[in-house]
Amino acid sequence: MDPKTVVLASDHAGYSLKNALRDYLASEGYAVIDAGTDSSASCDYPVYAEKACRILLAGDADLALLVCGTGVGMSLAANKIPGVRAACCSDVYTAKFTRLHNDANALCLGARVLGEGLAREIADIFVSTEFEGGKHARRVDMIRKIEAGGTLLD
Ligand code: RB5
Repeated sequence: MDPKTVVLASDHAGYSLKNALRDYLASEGYAVIDAGTDSSASCDYPVYAEKACRILLAGDADLALLVCGTGVGMSLAANKIPGVRAACCSDVYTAKFTRLHNDANALCLGARVLGEGLAREIADIFVSTEFEGGKHARRVDMIRKIEAGGTLLD
């Protein structure tokens, strides 16, 4: 897929930051899909986590960006969906290394935690960094094994 496609979603708390990041990423040349929410009316973040992650897992996007008040609710919900590796990040270093080492495919941000400038920088590094593979692929495969109901402790 070229350019990279990013699907974004938020609840009401993340609505305005989600819109700002959508417009920012689009201006940077990324293809964006907005999976809602579409207003600042109160709504439930797990619904929007699932909407974006289904689009991601269907292969219609390369990465997901999920925004709620803290980023935590979105990450908890997203990580319940097999195949999603969601990282809640408040700094650029973590966002970079969760792509390099964890092959995270969803970034979760807290709109009540981060200013828009830092959120942009975090989103930027996340979407532009590639998975390193190698020994990290073996570890991500271990996560997949746990996810599939297996154990690493045999
Ligand atoms: C909504 O008030 C808030 O709980 C939600 O956006 C999120 O922070 C949950 O983790």
